[in-house]
Amino acid sequence: MAGTLDTPLPASQLARATTLSLLILTLHLLTSYSTTVALSIGVNYGTVADDLPPPAQVAAFLRDRTYIDRVKLFDCNPDMIHAFAGTGISLMITAPNGDIPSLASLPGARSWISANVAPFYPATNISLIAVGNEILATADRNLIAHLVPAMRSLSSALAEAGFPQIRVSTPHSLGILSTSEPPSSGRFRRGYDRVIFSPMLDFHRRSKTPFVVNPYPYFGYNSQTLNYALFKPNPGIFDPVTKINYTNMFDAQMDAVFSAMSRLGYGDVGIAIGETGWPSAGDPGQVGVDVEDAASYNGNLIQHVSSGKGTPLMPNRTFETYVFSLFNENLKPGPTAERNFGLFRPDFSPVYDVGILRGSIQGGGPLPAPAAKWCVAIGGAGETALQGNIDYACSTAGVDCRPIQAGGPCFEPNTLEAHANYAMNAYYQLAGRHDFNCDFGRTGLITSADPSYGECKYAA
Ligand SMILES: *[C@@H]1O[C@H](CO)[C@@H](O)[C@H](O)[C@H]1NC(C)=O
Ligand SMILES: *[C@@H]1O[C@H](CO)[C@@H](O)[C@H](O)[C@H]1NC(C)=O
Ligand SMILES: *[C@@H]1O[C@H](CO)[C@@H](O)[C@H](O)[C@H]1NC(C)=O
Repeated sequence: MAGTLDTPLPASQLARATTLSLLILTLHLLTSYSTTVALSIGVNYGTVADDLPPPAQVAAFLRDRTYIDRVKLFDCNPDMIHAFAGTGISLMITAPNGDIPSLASLPGARSWISANVAPFYPATNISLIAVGNEILATADRNLIAHLVPAMRSLSSALAEAGFPQIRVSTPHSLGILSTSEPPSSGRFRRGYDRVIFSPMLDFHRRSKTPFVVNPYPYFGYNSQTLNYALFKPNPGIFDPVTKINYTNMFDAQMDAVFSAMSRLGYGDVGIAIGETGWPSAGDPGQVGVDVEDAASYNGNLIQHVSSGKGTPLMPNRTFETYVFSLFNENLKPGPTAERNFGLFRPDFSPVYDVGILRGSIQGGGPLPAPAAKWCVAIGGAGETALQGNIDYACSTAGVDCRPIQAGGPCFEPNTLEAHANYAMNAYYQLAGRHDFNCDFGRTGLITSADPSYGECKYAA
């Protein structure tokens, strides 16, 4: 997440005079948030960690145990894309930054789609391709110059390949704004506004695709504005131009983006939220960073974006939203908070519940006991270990590895990880399903989520 690079949005305009009507309005909003609606929410599936479960298990968990129906990937890892086949979960995949110059030519876009989309679609519902991540924040002139051409040629190549439903966009940090407070003054950085954003927004308007932004109140609050950032009761911040009292920083950030778009004549273009979130743990003494605060931000956010209420300047709009992040990621560098943005721990236990768990009362309840168990490789086990596990399992008398051979139902995806998962489970089931049968030199993991997909059935 490049959110740490965002320009902080200092809340300088704090209007101190609290009015009773504002307080009542705030309480009313909080009350209506608690009315549970059918949830539709996305998450970012980041993988800067060495302890995450395998993608097939993650996909099955999301499908069976949560209301999460969209997932955003930071790359186009074939195992991960494949894992979501047939789950009903739609995917935003990311073309790596370095691919942008070649994507700017139609032949380059065509071959990218042949390699990264055609093998998986429509079994995996790829619904959006992000062209790079926060490219303007890289300040790399070559990438920036090729960004809009890459979006256009990718879109043309998708239509040509028979995939016109797949949308194209690119996520932006709020560093694209030179001014964001008050929200009505929002504008894009000079130099980028007409040269990059006008043609980009024109592309979005024509292709009916969203402009994707990553608003992070977490990177903009101070001790005075914590409640404002967390959607908790607060005095609000007054925009003297529009005469709107903003009661939460999220709305203010979104309306600043809207103002910048409107200034160029593109206020009608839809907006999606590529990342937003709040960490549940921080360094000693850090204010506003604990489980309760994270649950407040993400819980209120999810209700807010799916409520259909919109923001003061964008009434009645909904925003396709991807919370950052699915998992705590133990290898993220930087302050402790960076490693604690997850809704879940790597063993799938919720860090807190924001009402996205199926089969539990909102606020938490026990998850149903697992009925069956499977054995798979831990994430990041390494090629040598994976190959060793395949060799070991498949050379054991009675273990049938034909399904992962060419032509077998589990041959695709043809990766060491997928084949190891299958072989390790076959061994584990045959050997008697003892925990130690899934040890594999500490590269095995027992799971209660069925890793089967399509015609590829894992024994249980
Ligand atoms: C917003 O707050 C300001 C200052 O507290 C107050 O003067 C104004 O009436 C409020 N406006 C609305 C629309 O609530
Ligand atoms: C794919 O995902 C999109 C976006 O979530 C959804 O509108 C569409 O219905 C899905 N398509 C299928 C075939 O499930
Ligand atoms: C938003 O929805 C409300 C309730 O349906 C409606 O009264 C209002 O006119 C809508 N506003 C806009 C700008 O569409």
